[in-house]
Amino acid sequence: MLISLKLIVLLRNILACLWICCAVAARNTLNQGEKFNSSDQLVSENGSVTLHFIKQEYGPQMQWDGKDFGYYLAIHYTEFNGSSSSGENLSHPIWLANRQDPIADESGILIIIDATGLKITRNGGNPIQLFSFHSTNNSPTNNNNISLVLQDSGNLVLQQHANNSNITTVLWQSFDYPTDTLLPGMKLLSNFFSYMR
Ligand SMILES: *[C@@H]1O[C@H](CO)[C@@H](O)[C@H](O)[C@H]1NC(C)=O
Ligand SMILES: *[C@@H]1O[C@H](CO)[C@@H](O)[C@H](O)[C@H]1NC(C)=O
Ligand SMILES: *[C@@H]1O[C@H](CO)[C@@H](O)[C@H](O)[C@H]1NC(C)=O
Ligand SMILES: *[C@@H]1O[C@H](CO)[C@@H](O)[C@H](O)[C@H]1NC(C)=O
Ligand SMILES: *[C@@H]1O[C@H](CO)[C@@H](O)[C@H](O)[C@H]1NC(C)=O
Ligand SMILES: *[C@@H]1O[C@H](CO)[C@@H](O)[C@H](O)[C@H]1NC(C)=O
Ligand SMILES: *[C@@H]1O[C@H](CO)[C@@H](O)[C@H](O)[C@H]1NC(C)=O
Repeated sequence: MLISLKLIVLLRNILACLWICCAVAARNTLNQGEKFNSSDQLVSENGSVTLHFIKQEYGPQMQWDGKDFGYYLAIHYTEFNGSSSSGENLSHPIWLANRQDPIADESGILIIIDATGLKITRNGGNPIQLFSFHSTNNSPTNNNNISLVLQDSGNLVLQQHANNSNITTVLWQSFDYPTDTLLPGMKLLSNFFSYMR
């Protein structure tokens, strides 16, 4: 009896601990060696923007590669149900990593920082390489700590931190690759109507 009571208390403590761990899981940085899948998100330090995988339905009679939806790695304003002071609809993504290359299946998508660079891997398709060390004069070395940081400005930055000199170098940033984020099925009409007003 006493033992089972202790067991219950122990279980409760473990559950409470798990709950707390999950509650504080929002992070703004993905370090080399860490995994980021379709259940994960990065939230910038002040909470203004979020990086996550989204499912985009293309709308009636619209398809891409024979499918009516695709998965995209997107940056959104975190509070994406409102509109900004200039009337811009905040629910539209600020940036898409793979606008021209939608992902068919949400299982097995991962963002990975490895010796080749920064990429999105997926089931049944080629990886989407966002940054490649081969394309630059840089190369990963043991003296560098490489991480992906989502900044409050909405910029996603792959940076290299030399731990023996404290110098941080930007390897790649989403601001250099702005996307015209209009996807098939996104409401052109709502833009049109806001013009009319
Ligand atoms: C993502 O990874 C976590 C563990 O790190 C796992 O619990 C979850 O099921 C994964 N999500 C998907 C969609 O694979
Ligand atoms: C923004 O657009 C989405 C879908 O395109 C729509 O559901 C939502 O109501 C719009 N929000 C505002 C504030 O206009
Ligand atoms: C957005 O939605 C959240 C929860 O769904 C709500 O708390 C918040 O007030 C909403 N914000 C706006 C601007 O509608
Ligand atoms: C720098 O940090 C990386 C990652 O933590 C580590 O593997 C490496 O040994 C460190 N190098 C030096 C010179 O401290
Ligand atoms: C790598 O750098 C990030 C921040 O720049 C830091 O949070 C993390 O602990 C570092 N990782 C290692 C293994 O040093
Ligand atoms: C977060 O930081 C950005 C950029 O500095 C700023 O524009 C935004 O208003 C801030 N948001 C909050 C909720 O503090
Ligand atoms: C790096 O910066 C941290 C904090 O700014 C400092 O404590 C540390 O001594 C610095 N290391 C080197 C090698 O300059």
